Amino acid sequence: MKFFLDTANIRDIEEAASWGVLAGVTTNPTLYAREGGTLADFHAHIERICAIVDGPVSAETVGLKRAEIVAEGVELAAIAPNVVVKVPVMPEGLAATKALAEKGIAVNMTLCFTVPQALMAARAGARYVSPFIGRFDDISEDGLEHLGNMVAALNNYDFGHDVEVIAASVRHNQHVVAAALMGADIATVPFNVLEKLVKHPLTDRGLESFLADWEKVKNA
Ligand code: E4P
Repeated sequence: MKFFLDTANIRDIEEAASWGVLAGVTTNPTLYAREGGTLADFHAHIERICAIVDGPVSAETVGLKRAEIVAEGVELAAIAPNVVVKVPVMPEGLAATKALAEKGIAVNMTLCFTVPQALMAARAGARYVSPFIGRFDDISEDGLEHLGNMVAALNNYDFGHDVEVIAASVRHNQHVVAAALMGADIATVPFNVLEKLVKHPLTDRGLESFLADWEKVKNA
């Protein structure tokens, strides 16, 4: 499984990149707004992220009609070679994805909640398909069960191009563990989850006792 960061925060992206584990970044309008982003600075902000990350950086379109989405996507893709255009699953989004894919532009279809949505995204030419987990949990449904269904369905078919599943809307470690066991290619996680993923109390306890014993060695 590859780890993506689900954020538009430059410091968090730099920190995760310094760990050597960051394979990509996903952003969305909410995440950009959270950083105080402005319309005028949007492309420059995506460019800054692309310069830090050695991997795909998803930048989301906001148009509702295919022509708008394609025009936005073409502009976003011109920012840097590692930009992936993020497009919501909907009829106009599928049409735009087809057009963008035909232009050789990689698309991440987002807001996927069902098996048919995931299959149609892949059929339309999406390079990445993003099933959301946590938002199901928020409405008392089992997001992991839905993810498992989408992964299994996508694995049944050859779409004629590479399709990777990005487990999205991740809230905690168990989402990542289950997504990995189900065979999701990527988990895109908030920075606070990435920090938790590297931690374990036994690691902390082990380190503590190694350091205490090393003190004994130094004082021997
Ligand atoms: C996916 O790429 C989205 O940016 C993201 O995972 C949404 O998650 P949320 O439910 O935490 O907003």
